[in-house]
Amino acid sequence: MTGLPTVPDRARLIATHLGPVLEQMPDPSGGGTVTELERELASALGAEHVVAVSSGTAALHAGLSALGVGPGDEVLVPALSVVMTVAPLAALGARPVFVDSDVADLDLDYDDAARKVTPRTRAVLPVHLWGRMGDPAALTAFASAHGLAVIEDAAQAIGTVRDHRRAGTVGTVGCFSMKDGKVVWSGEGGFLVTRDPGISEHARASRSHWQPPPKGQAPQSRLATNTRLAAPLAAIARANLHLLDALVERRRAQTQRLLHALEGTPGLRPLVPSPGEEWNAYAPLLRLDLPRPRAFAEHLAERGVPNSTGSFRLVPCDTRPMFTDQPGAPCRGAAEILDHTLAVIVTESDTEPVLDHRADVIAREAAAWTG
Ligand SMILES: Cc1ncc(COP(=O)(O)O)c(C=O)c1O
Repeated sequence: MTGLPTVPDRARLIATHLGPVLEQMPDPSGGGTVTELERELASALGAEHVVAVSSGTAALHAGLSALGVGPGDEVLVPALSVVMTVAPLAALGARPVFVDSDVADLDLDYDDAARKVTPRTRAVLPVHLWGRMGDPAALTAFASAHGLAVIEDAAQAIGTVRDHRRAGTVGTVGCFSMKDGKVVWSGEGGFLVTRDPGISEHARASRSHWQPPPKGQAPQSRLATNTRLAAPLAAIARANLHLLDALVERRRAQTQRLLHALEGTPGLRPLVPSPGEEWNAYAPLLRLDLPRPRAFAEHLAERGVPNSTGSFRLVPCDTRPMFTDQPGAPCRGAAEILDHTLAVIVTESDTEPVLDHRADVIAREAAAWTG
């Protein structure tokens, strides 16, 4: 296997962006770096409006609030998600209604979603977990059939494209995280993208104590909080955004290298993208056909192979203690996916020897695993 593509001169790029911002600080106006970042993100993603905020969670909160989601509303969300997706909608007083996922392609189970629509349903919130993106045509057809807004959790999915639609740009709002470890990272940070100027104005106001206010409203005429993105973090994000293609290319090569090394290992099968999906390869994904697969993932985490279920104990959201009082059957597809998927955590700094070592550990432990 040939070597991994390198990310070109990142240190110089970061110095070029971060240095001037630091020199201008302190600057209570926040300077123009955040605006520059928003402009560059809009151009990179083909989005009309971008609002940068302090985290992906804040982006989801702003997006849901801008859609008018509030007390008594229901939002369809896959059980195959993380608490960070669900917390903002619960914080707004809305109720998450968990929808199952299709074991074959990880997409929303639209039959289950249709069964769960009620007169109180306001929106559907697909989560592009591990960078995998569902079918955009199915999503828009479902939403328009039921009159729902679409807010995408694309926190892990920058760079994924399906049927020429970029993850995060299919719905009314798309939300991204720039937490460390995401493909474009800034330590902490996030942003939302939208075609709707009203949503953008609302998000801009809500990140900074309702200032600047949406057109026709007075500044600070409504209570909000501070979820602004700090200028130095915006500078880091700009540097990484300039490397977007290289960062995605490296992630793809890393994933390919690890999966290639494990080809033919009994009990492990790579999960491949869907037809028409150009996956950002956020995390190498393997289906585990071994006894007690979740215990195996935990066992690997203890042996230095970080992974979603083993290291972070990722479970279907509908089984978390705060949601077990919800009516309806548990989402079995989501549980099946999480119990049987090894999602190896990768960052751009993982080198060939690191990846090869992880592949060796996975293969060796799988061969010895009796459950
Ligand atoms: C799928 C998903 N949604 C939401 C979030 C929340 O993003 P953040 O940690 O930036 O608040 C994350 C990241 O942690 C995530 O992976």
